[in-house]
Amino acid sequence: MKLKNKKVIVFGGTSGIGLETIKLILQNGASKVYAISRNPTKVKIKQKQLILEKADVLDENSLKSLFKKIGKYDVLVSTATGGERAVGPFLKMNMQGYRNSFHKLWGYANVIRYGIKNLSKNGNVVLVSGSPARKPKPGFVAVSSAGGAVEAFVRAITHELAPIRINLISPGVIDTPMSPLKGKARKDFYKNATKDNIIKRAGTANEVAKAIIFAIENEFITGTTIDIDGGWILS
Ligand SMILES: NC(=O)c1ccc[n+]([C@@H]2O[C@H](COP(=O)([O-])OP(=O)(O)OC[C@H]3O[C@@H](n4cnc5c(N)ncnc54)[C@H](OP(=O)(O)O)[C@@H]3O)[C@@H](O)[C@H]2O)c1
Repeated sequence: MKLKNKKVIVFGGTSGIGLETIKLILQNGASKVYAISRNPTKVKIKQKQLILEKADVLDENSLKSLFKKIGKYDVLVSTATGGERAVGPFLKMNMQGYRNSFHKLWGYANVIRYGIKNLSKNGNVVLVSGSPARKPKPGFVAVSSAGGAVEAFVRAITHELAPIRINLISPGVIDTPMSPLKGKARKDFYKNATKDNIIKRAGTANEVAKAIIFAIENEFITGTTIDIDGGWILS
């Protein structure tokens, strides 16, 4: 599907990978792009095709009214993390933190459950998981579990959604505002986190966004996961 003159919704389109995706969608000539998150005012791009909306993917009622307001559309993307994630060893983990890591799954499930009705039959959905789902490393039990659940969810609903296509992008370590670290601490963090990868650097949000555009445009893929990970899986 070409994006020219299409109407696109991006949950999480206000930061990092989602924001880069919004920029590429606008460059590709979409007629309307909705960037949605809990605090969309952080987006500073001014373009008449871009509409900022406030919604929490965990709030089913606000999603129902949002989709009603938007009406028919062509592409649904969600990069929304859902909120906090727990890191570190499972046996020392706060169990509420572990459970909260699944907010990503609930957010994705909600936007599909309430958003699919108005999505064009030749439209498509793109969600984002993460490399720990496919290759867990120590300290990543919570994100691995939630990401694994997201991947199973996508494969499980692919038949049901057809002819609408659905695909997942699985990023490795990507330099985005998700990490609050600054300066040298940030540089050291990304260096250390990617030292065993084949490509020893963090990816950029733009490199992941390009894969999201590929998944939107390529009409022969559905139910699949595309790794954009600098070789995390083979590390
Ligand atoms: N960065 C990485 O290294 C990396 C690696 C693997 C996978 N990923 C995945 O890639 C996706 C994008 O990550 P990112 O790095 O771009 O993160 P980011 O810069 O922190 O952006 C996350 C976006 O999600 C929105 N969001 C979070 N919770 C939300 C909620 N409950 N309702 C609505 N919007 C919500 C945030 O906006 P508000 O705060 O305004 O709501 C923000 O726009 C996520 O699914 C993440 O798990 C990232």
